[in-house]
Formats: sequence, C-alpha cells, structure tokens
Amino acid sequence: MNKLRIGHLTDIDEKGSRTFKVLDTEIAVFKLSDGSLHAVENRCPHKGGRLSEGMVCGTAVHCPLHDWKIDLRSGKVHEPDEGCLNTYPTEVDGNSGEIYITIAG
Ligand code: FES
Repeated sequence: MNKLRIGHLTDIDEKGSRTFKVLDTEIAVFKLSDGSLHAVENRCPHKGGRLSEGMVCGTAVHCPLHDWKIDLRSGKVHEPDEGCLNTYPTEVDGNSGEIYITIAG
C-alpha cells in the first residue's frame, strides 16, 4: 500500500476534478457537491474516455465520449451499460486539508 499526498482540498472545485499519474495509471479525484472526495481511474471502461472531462451529476460522472454514467463512490457503471472502474480510498487531514489517496501495490 502506498499513501500519496495529491494536493489540498482547495485545489479541487465542487463538482470538479484533479488528475495525476501513478506509474502508468491516470487517476482522477472528484469533489462532489456534498464535499466528499472520490478517486477513480481516469479511463472509462467503455472506450477509454477521460472521465475528468465529464460532467458530475449527483454522485455520478457522465463520460464525455458516449455519456455512460459511472458512480464515483463504487466505480460501477449505471445500467443498462456494464463495467466497473478501479477506485482508490481517499483521506483528508482534518488540520491541514491535505488530500491523500491509497494505492495498492
Ligand atoms: S468511452 Fe466512455 S462512454 Fe464511451
């Protein structure tokens, strides 16, 4: 397990995202309107659309390429489509506001 500091709470707008790369994987961290953070692989399971460029609606992001909807909490694609993304646990330091994510491996 690797715990990485990826930025500060103020770096991400509400319903916005921030991306970064760990080895060969690009990860997008989204902030929902309730303030919660969700880190997912930035690659749609359909044809690889960059989810960080999609629109966040509730707890889902709409892929910018073909509008699949993906739940940012579970990584699961909404029906009738199918698939799942890798998700990564996030943590925020209550004092400093720094964001950390945990990557297996
Ligand atoms: S690549 Fe995301 S919906 Fe097609």
